[in-house]
Amino acid sequence: MSSLTNPVYPVIWHNDSVSLIDQTRLPNEYAFVEIHRSEDMARAIKTMIVRGAPAIGVAAAYGMYLGAREIETDNRDEFLESLEKVAQMLRSTRPTAVNLFWAISRMMKTAYETLGTVQEIKQILLETAQIINSEDLQTCQEIGNHGLTVLPSTPEKLTILTHCNAGGLATAGYGTALGVVRSAFREGRLARVFADETRPRLQGAKLTSWECVQEGIPVTVITDSMAAHCMKQNLIHAVVVGADRIAANGDTANKIGTYSLALIAKAHQIPFFVAAPLSTIDFSLHDGTQIPIEERNPEEIYKVGDTILTPAGVEFYNPAFDVTPAELIAAIITEHGAFVPKELKTIQEKQMA
Ligand code: MRU
Repeated sequence: MSSLTNPVYPVIWHNDSVSLIDQTRLPNEYAFVEIHRSEDMARAIKTMIVRGAPAIGVAAAYGMYLGAREIETDNRDEFLESLEKVAQMLRSTRPTAVNLFWAISRMMKTAYETLGTVQEIKQILLETAQIINSEDLQTCQEIGNHGLTVLPSTPEKLTILTHCNAGGLATAGYGTALGVVRSAFREGRLARVFADETRPRLQGAKLTSWECVQEGIPVTVITDSMAAHCMKQNLIHAVVVGADRIAANGDTANKIGTYSLALIAKAHQIPFFVAAPLSTIDFSLHDGTQIPIEERNPEEIYKVGDTILTPAGVEFYNPAFDVTPAELIAAIITEHGAFVPKELKTIQEKQMA
C-alpha cells in the first residue's frame, strides 16, 4: 500500500475542534482525543499524546486558535494581551523542539499584523494554523524526495536505520526521516528499515514500527544497544534521523541516543543524515551547547507498565534529547534540498536577503 493512499495525520481540524491521534496508546489502540480548549492542547503536548517536533508545532498553532477563541473581548489590545498568555502557556510545555516556538511566534505575528476586528483576527488565526498544517505535509514530501538524492547509490536496495519516530505521527503527515524512507520505498530503493526501540519511551518500537506495518514497509526492531553490532555485520547502509532543533552551525538535537548512533555510524563509515524542515533550524543559536535539553520524569526509566525495575535508593537522570555535533552529519535534508552542515549559513543569508 502506498504512503500516499494510506497517510497518517496525527493532528486534524474538524467540526470546531482538533482530533489528535493518541500516541500514548499506539500500537495497541488507534484512538483519537478531541481537543476543544487551549489548556487541553497544552496538556496533550506535555503528556506526549501528540509528539515529534513538527507535529507539536502544528498542534500548538491550533492551540493558539483555540485560546484566541476563548478570549471574550472585542478590544484589540486586551485580546492581544490575553493571547500572549495563551502563547506563554503553550511555550512552557516542551523546551527542546523549536518548531513549537516557531509556530507560536508565527501565530502571534499574524495576530499583531492583522488589521481588523478581534473576530477577523480569530478567523485568520484558524486559517494560519491550517496553513501551517498543510505546509508541513508538503514540506515532508519534499524532504522525502530530496533524501533520495543523497542516499548511497549502492546497493540498489538499502537498509536504513532510524531512531525514535520521525514519521507521519511526528509531523503533519508523511514524516521527515521516515519521509525519506517512504520515498525510498516508493522508488523501489528500500530493502528494510531497522528501527531502534528508543528507550525510554520506545517511540521506535511502538510508533515507527506501527507506521511501517501500516504501509507494508519491511521493518526490524532492535534495542538501541544493538545498532553497533548490526553496523559491524554490514546490515545497515545509511542512518536517517529527524531533529528537534538544529543550531546555526549544524549541531543537531534529537532524541536521546542519536549522538551515540552518529558516533558508531562514523566508526563504520556509514553515512548519517538528519532530515528536518527549515523551521527546525534555530539560527539564533550559534551551536548545540545553547540548545535547551528537556529532562523528563524518571518514572520513564524505572517503570515499565506497573512494574518497577530498580531498587529503592537509586538516582536517575532522564534527558530526553542529545546533541549530535555537525561534523558527524553527512547532510541535513530539508525541503529546499540536502546541505552539508556548513552550508546552513547560506540558507540563513538567503532568508535574511
Ligand atoms: O520526545 P519526542 O517523541 O517528541 O521526540 C521526537 C524526536 O526526537 C523526533 O526525532 C524529532 O522530533 C523529529 S520528528 C520529525
